[in-house]
Amino acid sequence: MAELTVHRTRRNPYPVDHWRAPLLEGIIAYQRQGIVPFSTPGHKLGAGADQELRETFGERALFSDIPLGGGVGDTHFGGNALGVAEALAADAWDADRSFFLLNGSSAGNHAFLLASVRPGDKVLVSRDLHKSLLVALILTGANPVYLAPRLHPRLNVGLGITAAEVAAALDLHPDAKLVVLVSPSYCGVASELEGISAISHQRGVPVYVDEAWGPHFQFHPALPPSAMASNVDGAVSSIHKVLGGLTQAAILHVRAGLVDPSRVRTAVGMVQTTSPSVLVLASIDAARRQMALHGEAMLEETITLAEDARRRLQALPGIDVLDGDRLGVDGFDLTKLVIDVDGLALSGYEVEHALRNRFGVGPEMSDLVGIVCLVTIGDTGASVERLVDAFTTISREHYGSGGKRAYLRSSGAVVAPAELALSPREAFFAPSRAIPLEAASGKISSELVIPYPPGIPVLAPGETITADKVDYLREGAAHGMYLSGPADPDLKTIRVVD
Ligand SMILES: Cc1ncc(COP(=O)(O)O)c(C=O)c1O
Repeated sequence: MAELTVHRTRRNPYPVDHWRAPLLEGIIAYQRQGIVPFSTPGHKLGAGADQELRETFGERALFSDIPLGGGVGDTHFGGNALGVAEALAADAWDADRSFFLLNGSSAGNHAFLLASVRPGDKVLVSRDLHKSLLVALILTGANPVYLAPRLHPRLNVGLGITAAEVAAALDLHPDAKLVVLVSPSYCGVASELEGISAISHQRGVPVYVDEAWGPHFQFHPALPPSAMASNVDGAVSSIHKVLGGLTQAAILHVRAGLVDPSRVRTAVGMVQTTSPSVLVLASIDAARRQMALHGEAMLEETITLAEDARRRLQALPGIDVLDGDRLGVDGFDLTKLVIDVDGLALSGYEVEHALRNRFGVGPEMSDLVGIVCLVTIGDTGASVERLVDAFTTISREHYGSGGKRAYLRSSGAVVAPAELALSPREAFFAPSRAIPLEAASGKISSELVIPYPPGIPVLAPGETITADKVDYLREGAAHGMYLSGPADPDLKTIRVVD
């Protein structure tokens, strides 16, 4: 194999050649060696696997399921194929160090917080945090101060966090050790990361971004600036969500200075399996190569497809599609179609049912008033046509049919953080019991309850439950609102600290 040649260098001292894909090459090299393995995995290159599994996956997939240590990782690059692949990713995403993750962005959230805060530390956290960030708070014992994103008054969508809001929070909490943001939000809204980094760094406070939904931002100028390009100290992104990685593939990026990359490396090792799937790792490597070499051109096509779909869907009676102008925000992910079907007097669930069963179209998510669809580098004119055609028929059949509009109530008040009686860790480890939701007012929640939309927790562990929140959740559950987090998915009961 040719030696690594210098293609271009940004931050990294390493020679960089984005044509190379060390882990993918390692799989090929191992297969060529014709080794008879007396090691894991026990299916031995597919020979011992179930017949139907072999037929469904294809022989090549199982033949490529090779161990990293003593296998793919050792074939070349001085036995450090993973290290070289991660260095290439660091270059592509503007980081000092990058770490490949096998348990999605969830693992990155756990690892970064474990590496950067201590029990009892105060952390400013955007309130639209994903469950995995709450788990990170539980693991570390850090005390969150929640920053609630403003909501659009009519569309009930979070509008991100501004630099001014972070500055005000840091004035109130000068002892905060870390700022944690979710950007972009699930609906595609990006926060003011550059300004937030500048303000936080002036005070010596590092910034970490859960960029699970934004791995593509780095590669096209029409998308919001990526987290690392906005000078934050750490960011995680899910390569599997909108790029070409296999499910679970993600990367954690780190900037050295306020955060110690070697401590992050140790923490990544603590939260991950010791038997990494090279299928997932090689898919991250290949996705990096694809983006570094062709990302802008591929995303140009993706954005064109998504914008065309947005325009055509917006023109349909009874249908509205979010964009930066409607929300009044600068940073918006143009590839995301957040489709409001409230004007058809149908719930998003009913539209999803029709899309799947009548039109063979599978959306990402539905809720009471809408549907979220992702347009990615895997889409074509034909796939997008199918989506628009389906909505065209649904709009024709239902617009003006006089049905009842889906329930929608502004949730500005109820997603506001409540009094934090205990830290998430204290609440998690405290004895708890399930009680009827209607009896929960005044008790301390030991659960996380997140209605979609806006994907912002109404309740987080340790918070005192208010009567307002109980009313809102009862009403939402009765209307079939999708609730993520609680042990009882129907929310007839809720777990509270005993
Ligand atoms: C904002 C956010 N962060 C983190 C995650 C977790 O990502 P993963 O599924 O890659 O672990 C998700 C998943 O949907 C998410 O929406």
